[in-house]
Formats: sequence, C-alpha cells, structure tokens
Amino acid sequence: MKPSFWHERWERVEIGFHQQQINAHLEQFWTQLQLPLGQRVFVPLCGKSHDLLWLAGEGYPVTGVELSPIAVEAFFAENGLSPRRWQEGVFERWEADEIRILLGDFFSLESCDLVDCAGIYDRASLIALPPAMRERYAHKLDSVLPAGIQGLLVTMEYDQTVLDGPPFAVSEAEVRALYEPVHTIELLYTRDALAEESRWRERGLTWLLEKVYRLTRRQETAQNAG
Ligand SMILES: C[S@@+](CC[C@H](N)C(=O)[O-])C[C@H]1O[C@@H](n2cnc3c(N)ncnc32)[C@H](O)[C@@H]1O
Repeated sequence: MKPSFWHERWERVEIGFHQQQINAHLEQFWTQLQLPLGQRVFVPLCGKSHDLLWLAGEGYPVTGVELSPIAVEAFFAENGLSPRRWQEGVFERWEADEIRILLGDFFSLESCDLVDCAGIYDRASLIALPPAMRERYAHKLDSVLPAGIQGLLVTMEYDQTVLDGPPFAVSEAEVRALYEPVHTIELLYTRDALAEESRWRERGLTWLLEKVYRLTRRQETAQNAG
C-alpha cells in the first residue's frame, strides 16, 4: 500500500475510519496498563484522532506519526490548537502543549524519535496495513520502541475473502506471531462488532470481532535498551 493511497483518501475526505468520539476501548482499558502519569504515549498512524487529545487530557503526553499533512493540519486546527512547526531530520514536527505529531512516514522512524515513550496505543494502525506491511510494521516497532513499553492494540477479525481491506482482518494468531517474540500479549476484550454496526453487515460480513490486547515489551529481549 503506497503513501499515495492514503494521501488520496485524505484529499477526497474518504476517512470513514475517523471517529468523532473517543475510542471506547481506550477509555475502558487504558488504566489497566498502570502507566505512570506523565509518561509519553506513542500513537502510530494517528490520523487526526481525538484519542490523542484524550490521552493528553488524562495526563499522558503523546507522540503521533502521520503521513498526511491534511490530517495533521486538520487535527490542530479543528481542536483550536496553535502548533509550533519545524523540520527535524525527515519529519516535520508539529507540537502544541503535550501533543507532538511527526509528519512523515512511520517506516522512517528511528529509536531517537521515540526514546521518551513508555506507552503505545494502536487503533486502526496495524489493521490499516496489508499482510507484508504488517510484518514490516511490527519489525519497525521492535527496532524503535524502548524496552518495557506497554500498550493497547485494537484489531478487527472477519472473513477476508468477503471483503478487501483496509481495515484488514488480523487474527489473534497473527498478532501473537508478530508480537510474541518480543512482547507479552494479553487479550483483554472481544466485542461482537457486527451486532452494533450494521454498515459491515450491509457490506456482506456475517461476523466481525473487535479485539483489544495489552502488549508489554519484555525487558530482556529489548534490542535497543539503554
Ligand atoms: C485507518 S487510518 C487510522 C488513523 C487513526 N489511528 C485513527 O484511529 O483514526 C490510518 C492512518 O495511517 C496513515 N498512514 C498510513 N501509512 C502511513 C505511514 N507509512 N506512515 C505514517 N502514517 C501512515 C494514514 O494517512 C491514515 O491517516
């Protein structure tokens, strides 16, 4: 999936993934991480998600990364924030108060960009990517995230033969294959999403699950500790 795919989606305002509300799983399960207040949270492929604001409001500074300048500009403008902007390396950094967004390609991140992060929140990020890119995505996270980082991952599961992604179906087996070598994984919640969201039934799905995982990166396997 090329960057142009996402640039075009933002240009055409085809952003059905964007939620007007704070993600209910984030609100419900974030405290289970027991992340100390003030610890920074990484939000990969952040779009213009209101979840960034929620995390900051709860006392967690955030670092998002997002490819689309339209998304980044809209996030700050729509929330009445006046960011400082400057170029640093390959990313244009946008910052207002506790919210930092790196405008650029996730796959260009280096560990120095996330060195101050202790948490990660992934909603509609892993599942935005096709299979081969998901593997690259997980490897990239392995190489840039600090040891001990913990986070929430929200995925969807459905019959991929019925519908093309994105969002892509990502099974629990795949989540474990991608992350278990480096993280401890705990399934926190499974929701029957079809029951509450009829638009998926209209697109031909007969079942749809949303799953919430807690990920904790094991200290001893960290490649870039210290
Ligand atoms: C499905 S959306 C989810 C956005 C956000 N997580 C949310 O919950 O609203 C995926 C986002 O990832 C961005 N994106 C896709 N590939 C990217 C990449 N390689 N680097 C940074 N952002 C990327 C897209 O522009 C899009 O805004």
